[in-house]
Amino acid sequence: MEIVHVAAECYPVAKAGGLGDVVGSLPRYQTELGHVAKVVMPMYRTKFLYDNNWELVHEGGQSIGSHWFHYSVIKEKTNKLGFDLYLIDINGLLDREKIYGYDDDNERFVAFQIALCDWLNHWRDLPDAVHCHDHHTGLIPFMFKYCYAFRDRLAGVPTVFTVHNGQYQGWISWDQYYFLPAYDSWNWGMLDWNNTINPMASAVKCAWKVTTVSHSYLDELRESANGLQNLFEYERGKSSGILNGIDTKVWNPETDSYIIRNYDKELVEKGKKKNKKELAGQFGLDPDKPLIAFIGRLVGEKAADLLPDAISQSIYQHHGKANFIVLGSGDPELEDQLDNMRHRFNGYFNSYIGYSEALSHLIYAGSDFLLMPSRVEPCGLNQMYALRYGTVPMVRNVGGLRDTITDFGDWQGFGIRFDQASVNDITYSVGRAIDLYTNKPDLYSWMRSHMMTIDHSWDSSAQQYIDIYQSLKKTDEK
Ligand code: ADP
Ligand code: GLC
Repeated sequence: MEIVHVAAECYPVAKAGGLGDVVGSLPRYQTELGHVAKVVMPMYRTKFLYDNNWELVHEGGQSIGSHWFHYSVIKEKTNKLGFDLYLIDINGLLDREKIYGYDDDNERFVAFQIALCDWLNHWRDLPDAVHCHDHHTGLIPFMFKYCYAFRDRLAGVPTVFTVHNGQYQGWISWDQYYFLPAYDSWNWGMLDWNNTINPMASAVKCAWKVTTVSHSYLDELRESANGLQNLFEYERGKSSGILNGIDTKVWNPETDSYIIRNYDKELVEKGKKKNKKELAGQFGLDPDKPLIAFIGRLVGEKAADLLPDAISQSIYQHHGKANFIVLGSGDPELEDQLDNMRHRFNGYFNSYIGYSEALSHLIYAGSDFLLMPSRVEPCGLNQMYALRYGTVPMVRNVGGLRDTITDFGDWQGFGIRFDQASVNDITYSVGRAIDLYTNKPDLYSWMRSHMMTIDHSWDSSAQQYIDIYQSLKKTDEK
């Protein structure tokens, strides 16, 4: 089969979070299963762009409202990522340093989607499925079906839409309806949710199949989905949950070049000790105490706002028996708070405010526990990376965390689970972590080597997506 993945992120080209990790790995696993999987994304000004060689494969022109734009599609020449990678360049709109966060993001991503449809419309043989990821690509299923310029050829191409994060829906005011290419206006309702153009809702309505990145998250979306819960309930029949996998080539403590000492499950004790020593040295912490880390976006979904109180309460209540590291960026006030706390809790807590792929690897390898108190967690990759690096995940019982982590108090569990995103639940779990580390060394050591053997690779999930595409048949009909 030939599958085209469309997304705003793809590691290592451009990544802001787990979406990038997924789009950078799932297509490679699908290729290894014998299919042709391609990725198309916007061309940002990233290091990857300048470090690699590209060939021009297509040029075209389209308009967004009254603004005519020229676009070009370039392809990475050497198949470096294990699949064909295409970037769409739209001068002035996409070629910027950041992925998101500009005032004209709506216009940027609508233009990207228009260019994608226009380019596909020029293909001689159309793909067997177009797989769209998150709201930045959510208007594509609508454009295939209802935009006059595309529907004659593209309406018969199966579309799959994956919800990685239902909180962000890409809302566009109806005042900007002219962003969309001319469409069959009888179907304006396919764009609308609560008097707003809602790309996420539109994708859920128009895609042939909808998936979410864990089973539990799909159940949760039917209860609460930032306003779309009734829609997820209504579209139950075409929806399913497929758990993300991880890229076991990138996330492998045996070969990881970002860490100080490589290790496997036999050498986990020694290997982690070396990495912890390095990490504790860099952050002025005590390598003999249990080290609890948080890595992630400093936003409400991740319950990052609880970290300052939860960490200070844990330090006081547990008499400084554990150390903490936070690596993250996001809410500026929270960033300041976590930065200032470094001085107050010198020797017990430290933070790195910003984004560092290299440091994240060292933290997975060098810490003992990874804290994820998320309010919402569609899948979560960090906990799976932690398992692979022999780091015990401490997770709230939600979404993909619920589906991947069992508590060590249950038979053969290998994590710490808690129910509420609250300071008290986190502090209590920190107490359990300290107790496990200090008083149950045999169990702790068994858990570490056992968790490293759990298979969270893409092997089975990549096939589940293929099964979905295969259930959809390309047609020539509108
Ligand atoms: P989300 O996509 O919601 O942010 P995931 O758990 O799916 O959460 O994926 C987060 C990814 O982003 C992981 O690869 C994690 O290591 C990485 N990450 C998050 N914040 C940072 C940061 N500040 N520096 C480096 N990597 C980060
Ligand atoms: C989103 C979710 C996260 C998930 C990631 C990849 O960013 O917040 O839970 O792991 O997408 O699917």
